[in-house]
Amino acid sequence: MSKSETYQLLLPQIESLVAGEHDMIAKMANVAAVLHEAFGFWWTGFYRVEHDPSQADAQAVLVLGPFQGPIACTRIPYGRGVCGTAWQQAKTMVVPNVHEFPGHIACSSASNSEIVVPVMQAGSVVAVLDIDSRDFAAFDQTDALYLEQIARALTADKTQ
Ligand code: SME
Repeated sequence: MSKSETYQLLLPQIESLVAGEHDMIAKMANVAAVLHEAFGFWWTGFYRVEHDPSQADAQAVLVLGPFQGPIACTRIPYGRGVCGTAWQQAKTMVVPNVHEFPGHIACSSASNSEIVVPVMQAGSVVAVLDIDSRDFAAFDQTDALYLEQIARALTADKTQ
């Protein structure tokens, strides 16, 4: 099965898993599990923006959320590493070789490529979905396309 076909099978499953659940951590936990199981990634998980309304973004941090895989760094500053850059730029980052990414944060030396997709809510980044692979160049625009849809599904529930 192609990568696109796998994502197309997973999308409705993920949409129904998150439908009707307003708790973001519960939704993130199941989404991380589904993706990790289906693709056998090295690390699949979320970092959530720690909100302090009295502080500017530059003082905020990403805090480790639900994930599957080996232990990971717990806090990532704004603009740092692949995750902090995706947050700062509110843009998906596809990194074929993490060792060449300036400021990459190596939570695991086994990781060689990475994709980070922002989770947006009301126009702001509230979290990032981070996936690591032991293969180089494991991620491309197909992953970006579908993972962005999955990220949108997480915040589609208007009741939260
Ligand atoms: N490599 C990431 C840090 C998170 S871990 O990969 C789980 C980064 O550079 O932001």
